[in-house]
Amino acid sequence: MPATPSPVSTGYPELDALRPRLQAIPTLGADALEAEEIAILGRKSGALTAALKRVAELPIEERKSYGAAVNRLKAEFEAAFAARREELEAERKSQEHAERDLTMPARHRWVGAEHPVTRVVDEIVDIFRGIGFTVAVGPEVETEWFNFLALNFPADHPAMDMHDTLYLDAAPAEGEPGGRLLLRTHTSPVQIRALLAAPPPVRVVIPGMVYRNDAFDASHSPAFSQIEGLAVDEGISFVDLKATLIHFAHRFFSPSTKTRFRPSFFPFTEPSAEMDVECQLCHGSGCPACKGTGWMEILGCGMVHPTVLENVSVDPEKYTGWAFGMGPHRITMLRYGIPDIRLLLEGDMRFLEQLREGARAQRREGGQ
Ligand code: PHE
Repeated sequence: MPATPSPVSTGYPELDALRPRLQAIPTLGADALEAEEIAILGRKSGALTAALKRVAELPIEERKSYGAAVNRLKAEFEAAFAARREELEAERKSQEHAERDLTMPARHRWVGAEHPVTRVVDEIVDIFRGIGFTVAVGPEVETEWFNFLALNFPADHPAMDMHDTLYLDAAPAEGEPGGRLLLRTHTSPVQIRALLAAPPPVRVVIPGMVYRNDAFDASHSPAFSQIEGLAVDEGISFVDLKATLIHFAHRFFSPSTKTRFRPSFFPFTEPSAEMDVECQLCHGSGCPACKGTGWMEILGCGMVHPTVLENVSVDPEKYTGWAFGMGPHRITMLRYGIPDIRLLLEGDMRFLEQLREGARAQRREGGQ
């Protein structure tokens, strides 16, 4: 404790009256100390501040000695406040120290990582964002109209079985167009939603989960991801489709990755194609992963069928477009040579930790 200042008379009773308060400072707690400091030194209504203001009202000959007395007392108060503040701070610190158990084992911060599929989805989306596409999403519970009929699947056509749809018992919401509720079997219904939401020009990519009544085995899962792409504008041709998708493959895989398009069929595109990239494991020479072909299929695509445009009141004489759908789970498997899709869906940390390292090594190799 600092030495208590001895009571010395200033010769001014109103200043002397403050002495007991000066002496009490070493006993004040933090809150009381703050309040007292304001009461004595506060710029608006502090007792000493008021005394200083009074100097101007005194006769000339008294001003000097009174002013000096006020200032001395003020300095004493300031020193006492500072000393008490320091003392309280030291007390607080030692208290804190005593409460801390330094023998406790350290708590390790658990650092998570993005799932490899999430990383692949983000990369794909970024590549398309870089060429002017925006991101759209749609609901996982759809009606037959959005999932099939608006996309030019004929009602009761076996094409609808092709997808092995999971139907729901619930009834569709009031005003939703069309038929039974189902878990969407692909992200293509969001093509319809995007075109209904805003007239062309439209350039969107649509990531999301899709569901099919499939077995859960090495190459199938009842739930997996897709990324849809859709571009509708005036004067869009198959050349745009090919150039854009080849650009994507070169950015995503490598600038020298070979690609090829094979004719295919989808009810909502005409003509339709499937795009293959050179096998990422054997680079074209043929291996078990590509069944000896040297190629891996990565997506379905085609020119938007005119009937689809008509179904959303877009004039197919004025506008044309293209679309694609690819599967990030599958692409993740191709990229990292993962033989079983279940590894990407089960959340087994031992597997994910391996891939985290593998992915890091691959990024290092790629010089990123
Ligand atoms: N929706 C198709 C599927 O799931 C993929 C696709 C999308 C094909 C867009 C063409 C155009 O298989």
